[in-house]
Formats: sequence, C-alpha cells, structure tokens
Amino acid sequence: MHELLSSFENYLLNNLPQSKTFHPCFEDALGLMLKAGGKRFRPMLLLSVVKSNKSLLLENSMPVALGLEMLHTYSLIHDDLPSMDNADLRRGFETLHKKYDEVTAILVGDALNTEAFSQIANAALHNDIKIELIKVLSSNGGIDGMIIGQAIDCFFENEKLELDQLEFLHIHKTAKLIAGSLKMGAIISEYDLKTQDKLYNFGIDIGLLFQIQDDIIDETQTSIEAGKTTQNDEAKNSFVNLLGLEGAVKAADDLAKKCEYNLNELDKNLKKSLEELLLKYLYRHKN
Ligand code: IPE
Ligand code: IPE
Ligand code: MG
Ligand code: MG
Ligand code: MG
Repeated sequence: MHELLSSFENYLLNNLPQSKTFHPCFEDALGLMLKAGGKRFRPMLLLSVVKSNKSLLLENSMPVALGLEMLHTYSLIHDDLPSMDNADLRRGFETLHKKYDEVTAILVGDALNTEAFSQIANAALHNDIKIELIKVLSSNGGIDGMIIGQAIDCFFENEKLELDQLEFLHIHKTAKLIAGSLKMGAIISEYDLKTQDKLYNFGIDIGLLFQIQDDIIDETQTSIEAGKTTQNDEAKNSFVNLLGLEGAVKAADDLAKKCEYNLNELDKNLKKSLEELLLKYLYRHKN
C-alpha cells in the first residue's frame, strides 16, 4: 500500500500541470494545492482496484489516478472560496484565494478540472476504455454528482433539510466521486459489469460514510489537527447539525459496519487489495 502511494506521489510530482508564461504566479498557484498533500483517497481507491487483478496496468493508470486527484483538488479550491465555504486553510496551507486572490483560485480550479480530462485522454490505455473513464468521471464529478451536491449544500445553508435530503446531498457532493473512483479502477481492470456495479454501490456507502466522518471532523478537530478550516459547518446541513454529535457517530458506526460486511463479500483479490486501504478509513471517526 505504501509503495502504491509513493508511486502515485512520485508520478504527481513529475507531472504537475504547467503553464510557463510571463504570469508571475499562476504556475506556482497551479501546483500548490496538488503538492500540498491530502490523503489521496480517490486515486488510491482506483489504483487498489487495478492492483487487484491487473497490476501490470498500474503504471498506465497513473495519469487517470492523477486526473481524479486533480478534479477533487479543484473541487476543494472552489469549495473554500468566499462565496462557498469561505475557508482560510486547506491541506495545511493558506487557501489559494488567501495566498493569491480569488481570480487565481477560480482559474486554478478551472484549469485542474480541464486538465483532469486531458490526463485521462492522454493515458496509454485503449480508447474505448478511456471513453468509459471520461463518462464516469464527468457524470460523478459533474452535474449528476459533485456539482449538484455542492449547489444544494450552498443553496440550503440556514435551511434545514430532511434526513433523506441530507443523504442525497452527501451522496452527490462526495460519495459519487468516491464510487466513481472504484468504478474507474474496475473499468481499467476490465471487471465485468456486475462487479463494476457492485463496486460502485459499495463506493456510495463508503463515500457517504466518508462525508459523515468529515462532518464529525468539522465539529471535533481543530483547524491545525485537520489541516483545514474547521468549526465551519454552522450554517450547513451536516450530519452533526441534524443528528447531534452522538447521532452522527452512531450513523457512522452503523454505516461502517455495513461497509465492513460488504467488503468481506467482495471477491478474494478485490477484498485483499481494498482492505489494506479501507480498514483505516472505516472507523476514522473513532480516532
Ligand atoms: C475533503 O476531502 C472534502 C470531502 C469531500 C469530504 P478529503 O478529506 O479527501 O481531502 P484531502 O484530499 O485529504 O485533502
Ligand atoms: C466538500 O464538503 C465536498 C466537496 C465536493 C469539495 P466540505 O465542504 O464538508 O469539505 P471540507 O470540510 O471543506 O473539506
Ligand atoms: Mg463545502
Ligand atoms: Mg468546505
Ligand atoms: Mg466538511
């Protein structure tokens, strides 16, 4: 697992997006949040699925994993903007609109969004596979996924949603990209459609759990501990605000148990490969 993560980090450092012009800071701003780190959860999900049955394709999958991380990083840069969550700290660093200005943060986000698809289009994989990957990333990271989730998240600030609406919001803003990451790994590995769907559905639960845990982190961790602005969900529909901290922890516990069960139901190689990555995430709300 460690090896896979360090291969990905190396690939990322050697393939940072470039824009060598006379702009004094755009180039630096473009790479800053990508280099800043983060858990790399989505690329690791994809690579873990590839590793489970097509480890020879790991190297050729790196640009796809990087594309996923670029799209996710763009979503964070825009999420932190004053008009969205207005946050000052991300991945242990000042957010881009603070360090530079809003225009730079917006455009770096835009650049990482388009570059994500460029990474996939230029990967050394079959064209029909790349088209499937682009379909999955664009729907789960776009209008049918992350974007509508973020739109609902921001529109309904200070307006309480029902629990099923909150789940819809969290599934769209976070879980779909996570589920898409597993599915993209399955497409590269040429798992059959049934397995692809199984992994996708498993990913929706993992992703919902991930966002419930993120809501708990906002409540329980300092900004220094989390490396990002916390205590920032006051106006939001979060699991903590709807169910209370204890209720959110209980919801996370229940979902973690379901995920653990479903992880054990996966085929042997998939289970082994994903288990290495996922076990530390399932109960991270307990740390
Ligand atoms: C934060 O994502 C935003 C959510 C969707 C919960 P991560 O917790 O994966 O952030 P990084 O990538 O580790 O910085
Ligand atoms: C963000 O959710 C989800 C995204 C699509 C970026 P949050 O707003 O809760 O993420 P953090 O807590 O700022 O990382
Ligand atoms: Mg947000
Ligand atoms: Mg936020
Ligand atoms: Mg949050």
